[in-house]
Amino acid sequence: MEFAVKSGNPEKQRTACLVLGIYESRRLTSSAEQLDAACGGALGNLLRRGDLEGKPGQSLPLFNLPEALCERVLLVGCGREREMDDRRFRQMITHMATALNETGATEAVVYLTELAVKGRDLNWKIRQIVEVVEDVNYRFEALKSKKDTARRLLRKLTLSVPGRRELSGGEQAIREGLAIAAGVKLAKDLGNMPPNLCTPTYLAEQALALAGDFPALRVEVLEEADMERLGMGALLSVSHGSAQPAKLIRLDYRQGPAGQRPYVLVGKGVTFDTGGISLKPREHMDEMKYDMCGAASVLGTLRACVELQLPLNVTGLIPTVENMPGGRASRPGDIVTSLSGQTIEILNTDAEGRLILCDALSYAEQDEPAAVIDIATLTGACIIALGSHPHGLFSNHPPLAHALQTAGHAAYDRVWELPLWDEYQESLDSNFADMANVGNGRDAGAIVAACFLARFAKKFHWAHLDIAGTAWKSGKAKGATGRPVPLMTQYLLDRVAEAGRGAH
Ligand code: BES
Ligand code: MN
Ligand code: ZN
Repeated sequence: MEFAVKSGNPEKQRTACLVLGIYESRRLTSSAEQLDAACGGALGNLLRRGDLEGKPGQSLPLFNLPEALCERVLLVGCGREREMDDRRFRQMITHMATALNETGATEAVVYLTELAVKGRDLNWKIRQIVEVVEDVNYRFEALKSKKDTARRLLRKLTLSVPGRRELSGGEQAIREGLAIAAGVKLAKDLGNMPPNLCTPTYLAEQALALAGDFPALRVEVLEEADMERLGMGALLSVSHGSAQPAKLIRLDYRQGPAGQRPYVLVGKGVTFDTGGISLKPREHMDEMKYDMCGAASVLGTLRACVELQLPLNVTGLIPTVENMPGGRASRPGDIVTSLSGQTIEILNTDAEGRLILCDALSYAEQDEPAAVIDIATLTGACIIALGSHPHGLFSNHPPLAHALQTAGHAAYDRVWELPLWDEYQESLDSNFADMANVGNGRDAGAIVAACFLARFAKKFHWAHLDIAGTAWKSGKAKGATGRPVPLMTQYLLDRVAEAGRGAH
């Protein structure tokens, strides 16, 4: 969809649809007041008759308003003025996008940008509108024989800004919103693909295709023989039970100053997780196709990076495998040697994510990274702990954790930090190897998994995002969310701003 910014009075807009807010109870927002004055009090009369209270979730289309140049007006309930916050604003935009799709309008001019949102500026509102509208209009129809294309008439949204001085900032906010939305869409598409099609080989092909579209990206795919040579025994053990060969995808984006240390993003790419010999129960096993959403978010974030032409060095590393219980699969009790040289007793083949990530983390050492952030649908325990709102955050470097918290708040793609204390490390003790791949109980599963990874991240600043609860939705709205592409893109945007401040 196309987005633009514009300044001007609502009654002067020659548009198919004017979108105006109404506060609870029946209070006109300032643009609604302007239009009301121009059309002889028609809006105020309507509200007095009780057609719209202004509650969140309400909307009302109006036709034939006297003296207005627009074909129709869509009034949108905003709730109480004092209660307008991030969450309310996004909900309101979700309702607006849904209601606009019900009208016949192909374009609209939106004045909801004028509403005051606690602690947020105009550019934040514009970027959120772009992201939320793209999110609402997303469909995954590639594999439906009949497409639902009849609806979705809306092609262009023009967002109002107070004056000409706000135009260029608004355009930048649209560019950022569109780049993030395109990254989110890529991550959703890959996540939603079925596991018979979305294999490790397919992910490697998608990375190569992305580099084909964007010359600023360079891609290299390590095959099993390469990984064998390097000594990635932990990673390779996971794919032994599968007919699909493992891959390690490396993407390099080098638009920062030469010699600037890269930010390395590592994404878990298990294209299907049966659990292996420690087989999962049957309920919801189809959802284990989403076990590559970390990988998808790395590709999505890199796509946003290239689109925004960020002056940074960024590397994406995607270890990708299928976890199957084939005849050559790992058994509980097997001991493997990781790239770091540390040995691991595999007590549960369903704790496979950490086995592929640990070798990817060791591999990242050679890049002398500024920071390494891994993104993984790592533990069911993280869903129990935090649910689906924040990503679980772990880090060995408090300033990095803080930067991710700040970025999460700015992008409204939030994180919540959990402790990485050494006390938890003891539960990974093994009688036969340097460590076991699971803790000796069920306690603190998300933390113990992060503690396992920490043993492979000692040589750099590192953070781990457990996205098991946030990467997809279950139930009727089942589908990938594209998170944490907004968070990661914001984190990188913030690094650009930081470098700019340092130069002055
Ligand atoms: N991919 C799963 C984690 C997961 C489970 C994500 C459910 C989303 C929903 C991971 O590979 C896994 O199986 N983890 C185990 C670890 C356990 C064996 C220590 C888990 O969480 O049960
Ligand atoms: Mn598993
Ligand atoms: Zn898994």
